[in-house]
Amino acid sequence: MNRRLWLKNSAALTVGATALPSLLQKAYADPVARQELYLDLSHEFRAALAADALPPAAVKARLGANENPWGLSAKTKQAVGDSLLEANRYAMRATMDLYKAISEKDGVPMPQAAAGGWGGPSKSFIKLGCGSTELLNASLMHFATKGTIMVGDPCYISGNDEKFPIDKVKLTADYQYDLDAMAAKADPAKHSLIYICNPNNPTGNMLPPDKLRKFIDEVSPKVPVLVDEAYIDYATDPKTDCMVDKVKEGKNVIVLRTLSKLYAFAGMRLGYALGKPELLQDISKYTMNGFGLSLPTIRGAIAAFADADNQKMVLTKTAESKKYAMDFLTKAGYKVIPSYANFMLFPVNMKGSELNAKLMNEGVMVRNWFFDGQHWCRVSIGTMDEMKAFTEAFTKVAS
Ligand SMILES: Cc1ncc(COP(=O)(O)O)c(C=O)c1O
Repeated sequence: MNRRLWLKNSAALTVGATALPSLLQKAYADPVARQELYLDLSHEFRAALAADALPPAAVKARLGANENPWGLSAKTKQAVGDSLLEANRYAMRATMDLYKAISEKDGVPMPQAAAGGWGGPSKSFIKLGCGSTELLNASLMHFATKGTIMVGDPCYISGNDEKFPIDKVKLTADYQYDLDAMAAKADPAKHSLIYICNPNNPTGNMLPPDKLRKFIDEVSPKVPVLVDEAYIDYATDPKTDCMVDKVKEGKNVIVLRTLSKLYAFAGMRLGYALGKPELLQDISKYTMNGFGLSLPTIRGAIAAFADADNQKMVLTKTAESKKYAMDFLTKAGYKVIPSYANFMLFPVNMKGSELNAKLMNEGVMVRNWFFDGQHWCRVSIGTMDEMKAFTEAFTKVAS
């Protein structure tokens, strides 16, 4: 989409916002919301816009947003297509089917109707959102009214300190979350939430699961912990490396998931939060309560969860592409941080923005970061062709 069209569409969206349901209007009229507490993802949009400035044929590799280049699986596309036949109806039944799929996949209870029916506060361990962004934003809005949010530095949301009261705790020398420092610092009189992204974006590395469990046991009785597991599907063993067991134990913990990565739903928009009902109820007032999801997205998600062969294919190809890029960079002398995600981060010898621009000239998109007195390049893992385009362009502009 070109810039003019994008701006036009943004304007249309703004007009559409006047039709928001009254509950949501009330939430946005909240004094806290009025202070413009919001998750600033404008850098993501800027990167997308810059890419859209290139003629589509000139884009050789989109490696800037950790997307899944293999796209929706054939079974998912079929389910999305089939759903159009019932897309004139509201998606209540499909939503219940999706709850069931998530409940079976992650082993959390199905939502129970509240006394008085589904309109009331439900006892749900699952909250659905338009991408995990809706739920992350809602969590930040809610907890920012109660105090300061502790984050690792850098992490996915550490650049939001103008939008939220944020307390940044530097990563350790090997770029891991400094859990000891975070535990020592956690103060219920000051902090309302601790945000841990695991695997971490942008570093790509991961905390040893038992260390994180111990941290949650120790700290969450004082300060709730939100574990953003956007990339957990790429971990060694997602089922045992994830923190859902802490949710089931009733700890003060919210686990956030997205389908944007392994399931290729970045443009379909679906994420969910797992947590005990009291915690999820707190963030509900800033969400659409799952009512913002389209039927094709819901039906597609159920099919995507069931398509184990496709998940395996994506993981295998991601591992192949990752190994290729890792071998190339290591051989060229770069110290890549070990990655448990669909991207990797390494320090570079020139200004990150300059590297970005030069790579973009070659039709290759990446993201740059600056922290620890050092410029870094974050490259998403794409198809083998995309990784070859990256290594060719990188060799040309960086050596
Ligand atoms: C760590 C992390 N959390 C959340 C998101 C948001 O994902 P989405 O809104 O597409 O579900 C992203 C997107 O890249 C991410 O990297």
